[in-house]
Amino acid sequence: MKDLINSVKRMVETEQLSGISEMEIRSVKKKKTIKKTSVLQDIEKEIEGCSKCSLSETRKNVVTGAGSSKARLMFVGEAPGRDEDEQGRPFVGRAGQLLTKIIEAIGLKREDVFIANILKCRPPANRNPLPSEIAACTPYLKKQIEILKPQVICALGKFAAQTLLETETPISRLRGEFHEYCGVKLMPTYHPAYLLRNSSGKKDVWEDMKKVAKELGLEIPRRK
Ligand code: URA
Repeated sequence: MKDLINSVKRMVETEQLSGISEMEIRSVKKKKTIKKTSVLQDIEKEIEGCSKCSLSETRKNVVTGAGSSKARLMFVGEAPGRDEDEQGRPFVGRAGQLLTKIIEAIGLKREDVFIANILKCRPPANRNPLPSEIAACTPYLKKQIEILKPQVICALGKFAAQTLLETETPISRLRGEFHEYCGVKLMPTYHPAYLLRNSSGKKDVWEDMKKVAKELGLEIPRRK
């Protein structure tokens, strides 16, 4: 009987101990998230006041990025379009609606991921970003990635993939396999705006997204 009481006592003590350490771990994680959020906000303020290139003269709003500071998956697009410039938020137009579907197809919500662009301001008439604009703006994105430390980056389209990977290899050859950006796995895939014009690319994007989901240990939900 005494042995039994002692062993129950030990069990309770062990549980209490692991309970305390779990609480401590949770509190450290919470503090880290608060710190990350505040450092991200500092950068956003810096970006909002940016006038490093002439796009600052034509923009309505700066589109810094949006999403969770705890995101394990980050999407990087090209540049804000008209809708994004109006609202100051990334991927809110037609391409954005398709991106939302892509995110949900792998069992996540937009709020779970972080979405940003290579350029934070809209190029007039949605023209391609200029090399000088990319050079001026990319340090902001690099800082955001450094803070977020996502497990996977999904680079949407040629400009995002080629800029982060510092290559001129076409997106059609880059996509489909993981590459590495500063220790982070990077999957290049076609831009949702391209898919709106070329629906045949959707099959390839789905293959790429399945690899992303596998890397993140996500179970693909059954299609409704
Ligand atoms: N296309 C992009 O690359 N980014 C956006 O935010 C919207 C459309």
